[in-house]
Amino acid sequence: MNDQASALRKLVSDEKSEQTKMRVLAVTSGKGGAGKTNFTVNFALALAQSGKRVIILDGDLGLANVDISFGLTARYTIEHLLTGEKTIEQILLTGPQGIMIIPGGAGVQDLANLERDKIANVLTNLGRLEKMADILLIDTGAGIGHTVTNFLRGADDIVLLTTPEPTALIDAYGVLKTLKKENIKVPIHVVANRVHSESEAQATYKKLETAVHKFLNEPLDLWGWVYDDPLMSRAVMQQVPLGIGSPDSSAYRCIQWIAGTITGVNDHPPRHVEGIKGFLSKLLRPF
Ligand SMILES: Nc1ncnc2c1ncn2[C@@H]1O[C@H](COP(=O)(O)OP(=O)(O)OP(=O)(O)O)[C@@H](O)[C@H]1O
Ligand SMILES: [Mg+2]
Repeated sequence: MNDQASALRKLVSDEKSEQTKMRVLAVTSGKGGAGKTNFTVNFALALAQSGKRVIILDGDLGLANVDISFGLTARYTIEHLLTGEKTIEQILLTGPQGIMIIPGGAGVQDLANLERDKIANVLTNLGRLEKMADILLIDTGAGIGHTVTNFLRGADDIVLLTTPEPTALIDAYGVLKTLKKENIKVPIHVVANRVHSESEAQATYKKLETAVHKFLNEPLDLWGWVYDDPLMSRAVMQQVPLGIGSPDSSAYRCIQWIAGTITGVNDHPPRHVEGIKGFLSKLLRPF
């Protein structure tokens, strides 16, 4: 590790703050189209409705999806932050319920593989997020490339979405294998999406758990499930998130229940988290 990076890392990790740390959750899936973006957007809404301040980082490298799901259009992206043209406050979009969105785009790759000359600026800017929100949700791109892996390494929790389809399950298994290979030690929470019953969700989780329990050291649990709901595709078409257009839909109710896992409604004890500073210091690992 070079001197500059180690000095910066020390700065990040030494900074003591009285305030509660922001919890960083990375939402991922093996197979594309498992429902990450819609889950993230509605999860953010459910958390915001419970009084949490939420920021979404649109970690998709390709098409920006999160802003579109909210019916918003991003003017600037993380790329403008990395080039120093804009500050974090200037690129943030504000959505319903005060949810803030960091548009990703092509700059996401650079963020996950920070170049030395950009580190200080990015740290200063992203470090300010800690004061703005309680939860940072990262909607990662599909698959398990280098960028996604770095985000997962930095997170306090990984939310692994899968549908009951065998292909989605095999790809979710692939993600778990990669996490093991890369020695990523972050609790993993499975969400079974597009299920038709609780028993289908449990069976989906069981298949995954049985396949990995021998090699996985990290805790794996089933956080919940989301029903296959035609109102979800309608929400996508209308660019109005389900939680706004159809808050009583079965899918949104499931997502609200999962949000209760974080807000404490579901009786899970609060956990120590490392926050944005922990996240950023892990992004600096390659240096
Ligand atoms: N619970 C659900 N019920 C019905 N349809 C769903 C559900 N979740 C997702 N979908 C459908 O699946 C499609 C893909 O969802 P989404 O865009 O959230 O997936 P993604 O994992 O973000 O995809 P990508 O990997 O391309 O980023 C949506 O257009 C939506 O219609
Ligand atoms: Mg997506």
